[in-house]
Amino acid sequence: MGTKSLCLLLASVLVAYYVYTPIPENIEERWKLMLINAGFRTVSHVAEFAEWLGLMHYMEVLMMITSIEYTAPISDENVTVTDTKFNNVPARLYIPRKQSSGLKRAVIYIHGGGWCVGGSAMEPYDLLSRWTANKLNAVVVSVEYRLAPMYHFPVQFEDVYTVVKFFLQNSVLAQYGVDPNRICISGDSAGGNLAAAVAQQLLDDLEVKVKLKIQALLYPALQTLDLDLPSYKDNENKPILPKSLMVRFWSEYFTTDVSLQEAMASNRHVPAESSHLFRFVNWSNLLPEKFKKDHVYASPIYGSSMLGKKYPGFLDPRAAPLLVDDTKLLGLPVTYVLTCQHDVLRDDGIMYVSRLREVGIEVIHDHIEDAIHGVLMFITSPTDLALGHRVANKYIEWVNVNL
Ligand SMILES: *[C@@H]1O[C@H](CO)[C@@H](O)[C@H](O)[C@H]1NC(C)=O
Ligand SMILES: *[C@@H]1O[C@H](CO)[C@@H](O)[C@H](O)[C@H]1NC(C)=O
Repeated sequence: MGTKSLCLLLASVLVAYYVYTPIPENIEERWKLMLINAGFRTVSHVAEFAEWLGLMHYMEVLMMITSIEYTAPISDENVTVTDTKFNNVPARLYIPRKQSSGLKRAVIYIHGGGWCVGGSAMEPYDLLSRWTANKLNAVVVSVEYRLAPMYHFPVQFEDVYTVVKFFLQNSVLAQYGVDPNRICISGDSAGGNLAAAVAQQLLDDLEVKVKLKIQALLYPALQTLDLDLPSYKDNENKPILPKSLMVRFWSEYFTTDVSLQEAMASNRHVPAESSHLFRFVNWSNLLPEKFKKDHVYASPIYGSSMLGKKYPGFLDPRAAPLLVDDTKLLGLPVTYVLTCQHDVLRDDGIMYVSRLREVGIEVIHDHIEDAIHGVLMFITSPTDLALGHRVANKYIEWVNVNL
């Protein structure tokens, strides 16, 4: 064998080794997902390298994916698309063209991306909003909130809250021909976190008279306290969202100071003064047996009280909606929770389902056995997956029937 062929063989082995990630048995289109995941890992490695060199912040490199996927607000035969501002916060609006006699329904959508990346104009989000507007003949408001590391909590929450509060005014709803009794808030991942937090905080806002009819939380992040849940352990290195990236997203939401990230990575970030909050995320009580498997519940290990004082955001229910008392859950709208089996955030969603059901809120829980985190991102070519289409249809159909 010549040197050239030997080099070629070595290179192929290295590429295969790099691309190969174990993909759960029950997932379809395994090779495609493996390639997509290799793409994500490459971006992540480039980001780490650029950060190590001191050239760019890690999230700025990830943000490039968002920029590549940017789509202009172009109307099509079914939907009029415009970029606008509600009370100075940008939002993309989708108005169906179909003439209808009565008032329309509305969906407020909040995109995911770990509070750091993503955007309403990203191709998959733009497409999902078009599908929703077209299928439901509903007005869709997709919020463009500001992102970390430039802006930290509570900016993301407040931007979304501002848009929602502005839109829920009777005069504004009338302007768009929206029925005040048929409004939904939806979001995926970090967007599901913001949707859940906004829905909770609206309950106490005496200035808001219009109530949300339903909320749809799609593989949401809902708690910051325990980053060692069974789902974090089972899915630590699963495609798209490894635990290390989720920890980075969480900590970056509050600060760029790496001491929080390091403490979160070892699950020793919550100060003893906040020990009372752990009962809200006690998976030993809140997870069905099926998800506990052979995991053993261990009492929390506390971190320094300095972190909690410096970055109180991570103990704030506006960032972690599971951290509220049961009384704060009363009055929430009918809720749809979608969780994915192979996802570090799986148990966040399942624990919220348990908490809501315990206080009598009507919850529809769709658990997808063969799904990974972020599936709704994979609905546009060349990175589309049959799974992405299936989950998107499921979610839109639920909203269509229940809104
Ligand atoms: C417009 O709506 C029709 C019917 O739902 C659909 O078949 C068509 O693909 C839509 N057009 C676009 C550009 O999405
Ligand atoms: C969590 O629940 C288990 C089982 O009910 C209990 O033994 C433990 O004390 C609880 N821990 C906290 C922090 O609530």
